[in-house]
Amino acid sequence: MWLKVFTAFLAFVTGACSGLKVVVPSYTVHGIRGQALYLPVHYGFHTPASDIQIIWLFERHHTMPKYLLGSVNKSVVPDLEYQHKFTMMPPNASLLINPLQFTDEGNYIVKVNIQGNGTLSASQKIQVTVDDPVTKPMVQIQPSSGAVEYVGNMTLTCLVEEGTRLAYQWLKNGRPVHTSSTNSFSPQNNILHIAPVTKEDIGNYSCLVKNPVSEMESDIIMPTIYYGPYGLRVNSDKGLKVGEVFTVDIGEAILFDCSADSYPPNTYSWIQRTDNTTYVIKHGPLLEVASEEVAQKTTDYVCCAYNNVTGRQDETHFTVIITSVGLEKLAQKGKSLSPLASITGISLFLIISMCLLLLWKKYQPYKVIKQKLEGRPETEYRKARTFSGHEDALDDFGIYEFVAFPDASGVPRVGFPSG
Ligand SMILES: *[C@@H]1O[C@H](CO)[C@@H](O)[C@H](O)[C@H]1NC(C)=O
Ligand SMILES: *[C@@H]1O[C@H](CO)[C@@H](O)[C@H](O)[C@H]1NC(C)=O
Ligand SMILES: *[C@@H]1O[C@H](CO)[C@@H](O)[C@H](O)[C@H]1NC(C)=O
Ligand SMILES: *[C@@H]1O[C@H](CO)[C@@H](O)[C@H](O)[C@H]1NC(C)=O
Ligand SMILES: *[C@@H]1O[C@H](CO)[C@@H](O)[C@H](O)[C@H]1NC(C)=O
Ligand SMILES: *[C@@H]1O[C@H](CO)[C@@H](O)[C@H](O)[C@H]1NC(C)=O
Ligand SMILES: *[C@@H]1O[C@H](CO)[C@@H](O)[C@H](O)[C@H]1NC(C)=O
Repeated sequence: MWLKVFTAFLAFVTGACSGLKVVVPSYTVHGIRGQALYLPVHYGFHTPASDIQIIWLFERHHTMPKYLLGSVNKSVVPDLEYQHKFTMMPPNASLLINPLQFTDEGNYIVKVNIQGNGTLSASQKIQVTVDDPVTKPMVQIQPSSGAVEYVGNMTLTCLVEEGTRLAYQWLKNGRPVHTSSTNSFSPQNNILHIAPVTKEDIGNYSCLVKNPVSEMESDIIMPTIYYGPYGLRVNSDKGLKVGEVFTVDIGEAILFDCSADSYPPNTYSWIQRTDNTTYVIKHGPLLEVASEEVAQKTTDYVCCAYNNVTGRQDETHFTVIITSVGLEKLAQKGKSLSPLASITGISLFLIISMCLLLLWKKYQPYKVIKQKLEGRPETEYRKARTFSGHEDALDDFGIYEFVAFPDASGVPRVGFPSG
């Protein structure tokens, strides 16, 4: 871009010096075979001119330039060999090539001569490429039946029927695929080889093909990759799960759900363990343990997930403990009390006693003060009033609550009271 601006500037400067400038908007023009191609040229000069001459030459790599056509004022003199192919309408110096063929690829040179007070002359060169547009690519995948993770390889081939100078790019979920330890490309980039495939290779693949005149993307293809099982886990609709232990209340029927990530989906089987014997109790992802079946307190189960294509399996062990909170407590009551229970009991007893004492005291002080007042002089009465709350330590007994009132102003009070 900047180079273009700079060269345009240079052309302007040199042209300005000679009083003639020839400008082309683009130094490279990409054409489509069979269509017309227009090569725009602008020129300008500042001297009076009697004759304006325009000449077009064509040069292919390392060959002599060929004369195509020329003009003086408004009359065109074509090379008779190419007269039907190249058109110019002087004084407009732009050239029209129609139809464009592969053999027309090369450099086109335009030279403008101005005859006036002396002769001014300037020229420009335009590079022309000729291409066939790309047709929609198609992706072929091998093996089409799919590949097993870490075992199989996969080859994606991008096929294009027509188009020249093709540049291939592979996209996965719309983003370019890069070379990695498992991904490799053919020299042309039209083949993507994945060896071995992994679960991470699953995605929406497409092939993008470009050339100077067009670009097309294939339909999306999703390779089949067999994997798993991964992340086997058991969940239940009820009960408390801690690690591999499910704790449930007695009398409840629980539904267990075993799941693992796998393609194709796993086949599941459930195994129950009693003493040393194990036996398969069910096939399928769900297991219901009905209350009648929950005869034992603790039962060990195994859920086994098997992928019949990858040939791999995984299993998870879990334990079901049947409890009932109420029944357990009752069962423990007869046995020795735990130290915690003893402390709780003693504390409860103390609190209740203190409450009773407080209630009694709340009623009693009036009686005591009344008795005292009846038999005492006034001074003593005042004293009694002053100290009535502190005469007896029992009077102070009670439940005290510390209540913090937030300052109305919202500013915490810090420091000492001034009074
Ligand atoms: C071109 O045009 C100019 C003025 O319009 C005229 O003087 C000159 O003779 C013309 N040249 C030719 C070759 O016709
Ligand atoms: C030259 O002719 C083309 C159409 O044939 C036109 O678009 C273009 O503007 C012309 N250029 C000048 C400088 O008149
Ligand atoms: C022609 O060019 C000469 C020298 O370059 C100059 O002295 C003269 O004034 C020019 N004449 C016109 C008409 O521009
Ligand atoms: C997958 O490719 C690796 C290396 O390219 C090769 O060793 C292996 O045999 C291939 N496996 C299959 C199943 O074609
Ligand atoms: C792949 O394409 C399908 C539909 O063609 C779409 O549902 C899915 O979300 C796409 N996956 C990604 C990862 O883009
Ligand atoms: C359980 O099996 C182990 C070894 O497999 C054996 O030593 C043990 O005696 C068995 N216990 C019972 C109760 O069968
Ligand atoms: C795998 O299991 C599914 C059903 O679970 C069955 O339809 C399929 O045929 C099995 N495939 C093989 C290769 O055994």
